[in-house]
Amino acid sequence: MTGPLILGIESSCDETGVGIVRGHELLANEVASSVEEHVRFGGVVPEVASRAHLEAMVPTLERACAAADVDLVELDGIAVTAGPGLMGALVVGLASAKALALALDKPLYGVNHLAGHVAVDLLEHGPLPSPCVALLVSGGHTSLLRVTDIATSITELGSTIDDAAGEAYDKVARVLGLPYPGGPVIDRAATGDPRAIAFPRGLTGAGDLEQHRFDFSFSGLKTAVARWVETRERDGEEVPLADVAASFQEAVCDVLTAKAVEACLHTETPSLLIGGGVAANSRLRTLLAERTAAHGIELRTPRPGLCTDNGAMIAVLGSEVVMAGGRPSALDIGADSSLPVSRILV
Ligand code: KG4
Ligand code: ZN
Repeated sequence: MTGPLILGIESSCDETGVGIVRGHELLANEVASSVEEHVRFGGVVPEVASRAHLEAMVPTLERACAAADVDLVELDGIAVTAGPGLMGALVVGLASAKALALALDKPLYGVNHLAGHVAVDLLEHGPLPSPCVALLVSGGHTSLLRVTDIATSITELGSTIDDAAGEAYDKVARVLGLPYPGGPVIDRAATGDPRAIAFPRGLTGAGDLEQHRFDFSFSGLKTAVARWVETRERDGEEVPLADVAASFQEAVCDVLTAKAVEACLHTETPSLLIGGGVAANSRLRTLLAERTAAHGIELRTPRPGLCTDNGAMIAVLGSEVVMAGGRPSALDIGADSSLPVSRILV
């Protein structure tokens, strides 16, 4: 497989990612994470993340070039996350990409982080079926998308009306005294009975079908877990961590999978793809595999290491944009912390 040689830079949150692809072929994917620096604050501190991006950018870029055995002058283009994400963090990646584009006289492509989470699957499983439904579940976003063409056409079917799924994991972890980020920790701790506690499934009532069929709500679930734990602690009883984690995780995954399958059926789209950090979740992957198989829906799941933020997802999206004839971005584009998913190229 050939295609353009594209460098991708990702810096929207706490991971500095630099990836290199040729077409759909992954050549390098180097990630430097500042997650350790945020643990004691229980969440990402934007200023700390920005500083860490500044320090990590050049070494990560050098590692990626060495891993791919690519010299910067060989590149056909430079893709970079233009949004959504933390403003100060985005600016570091964008300024780095602009500097490289200017100095090397290469085209710049400012692209959408959320579309990148969908595009990354191309690296493992080849061209996306058209159309397909994508369930995007990360720390900042939770949405159901209809993807007709990853480079040009994504529409949102629904999204969270309050917390993102990953945010719910991170907040519940804090309630349970577990470290940040909560997703992987709860995933591992959820060894108990998923039916032990009947936590609420947001926006799944008959009355929600009309207005919120493909929307999500996780803040009520987070509050329910907090209340349940508080009551046990007040009564001097031990909190059964494995059962609480399993029951919480089941509530999240039940809703995500039910709505994703429903979106496929409702739009008569037989392909479902998942992306974003929460897509690394073991229960989500198992339950989705069961429920999609029951309806004859093809399921595409990128390997967990490609689900969390990385530069390869931005590089492969850039490569798709180039192959679709997308025009390069102006060198004065700004970062957009709330870039809508429908704006794939800025
Ligand atoms: O996509 P991502 O790396 O960054 C954002 O764009 O937000 O997602 C990070 C989120 C965090 O909330 C983290 O707790 C969650 O993904 N996460 C998981 C798992 N691994 C990461 N959530 C559930 N289960 C996991 N195994
Ligand atoms: Zn992300």
